[in-house]
Parts: sequence; C-alpha cells; structure tokens
Amino acid sequence: MSDLWLSKRGNPAKFSHTFHVQMFDCNICHPSLFKMKAGTSEITMDTHLTDHYCFSCHGENKSTNFNYEICHKGR
Ligand code: HEC
Ligand code: HEC
Repeated sequence: MSDLWLSKRGNPAKFSHTFHVQMFDCNICHPSLFKMKAGTSEITMDTHLTDHYCFSCHGENKSTNFNYEICHKGR
C-alpha cells in the first residue's frame, strides 16, 4: 500500500500504510479512527493530545511516544 501524506492543515505528516498493516488489521483503524478516504481526517494540534487518530497509539503515555521530527519529516 502506498504512503500517504496527511496535510490537511498544512503541516504534512507521513503515514506508511505498508508499515502499519504489518502490525495491525485494517479494522483497528478503519472506520473508527480513520475513514477510508485520504484527506478526511481533521487532525489539529488539539487532537494531538487526545485518543483520536494517530494519537490513540502515538503520544505521551502511549506505547510509542513520538517527537515532532518522526512524523513531520517534510516532503
Ligand atoms: C494504523 C492505522 C491504519 C491501518 C491499520 C490501515 N489504515 Fe488505511 N488509512 C489510514 C489513514 C491514516 C488513512 C488516511 C486518512 C486521511 O487521510 O484522512 C487511510 C486511508 C485509507 C484509504 C484511502 C486511500 C485514498 O487514497 O483515499 C484506503 C482505501 C485504506 N486506508 C485502506 C486500508 C486497508 C485495506 C487496510 C488494511 C489492509 C488499512 N487501510 C489499514 C490508517 C490505517
Ligand atoms: C493502532 C496503533 C497505531 C496507529 C493508529 C498509528 N500508529 Fe504509527 N506506529 C504504531 C506502532 C506500534 C509503530 C511501531 C513503533 C516502533 O517500532 O517502535 C508505529 C510506527 C510509526 C512510525 C515509524 C515508522 C515509519 O513508518 O517511519 C511513524 C512515522 C508512524 N507510526 C506514524 C503514524 C501516523 C502519522 C499515524 C496516524 C496517521 C499513525 N502512525 C497511527 C502504531 C500506530
């Protein structure tokens, strides 16, 4: 599956489907966390601090706590 760039808010974050589907079934993310349509997730700075979207797994006190550079490497 191809890499996706989430950039609705103008600060692109890279998401590798290929990498994540090695660990998770589709239904872990679809449709509860993400609709199956690129560009539909309304990810804001506020949602970075919630259990929504990527941050149900990545974030403080989560299994994988990532810093800015890991996700926003630039395009
Ligand atoms: C770790 C979470 C995660 C898993 C697991 C996952 N996806 Fe996704 N998927 C996403 C995200 C994030 C998007 C983009 C959402 C957005 O841009 O708003 C997406 C988008 C999509 C899209 C839309 C692509 C487009 O160009 O419009 C399809 C189709 C899709 N996924 C299918 C699948 C299938 C099939 C599987 C299982 C093999 C799967 N996904 C597993 C997170 C995941
Ligand atoms: C269901 C849980 C889950 C969700 C949702 C999820 N991830 Fe991940 N992600 C993981 C795990 C687990 C790893 C592997 C961490 C490790 O190896 O230390 C990972 C690894 C990564 C990596 C490092 C590997 C790479 O691809 O370069 C990035 C970047 C990443 N995730 C970004 C995202 C983004 C962006 C989103 C939201 C669009 C997201 N993840 C959603 C669980 C998740």
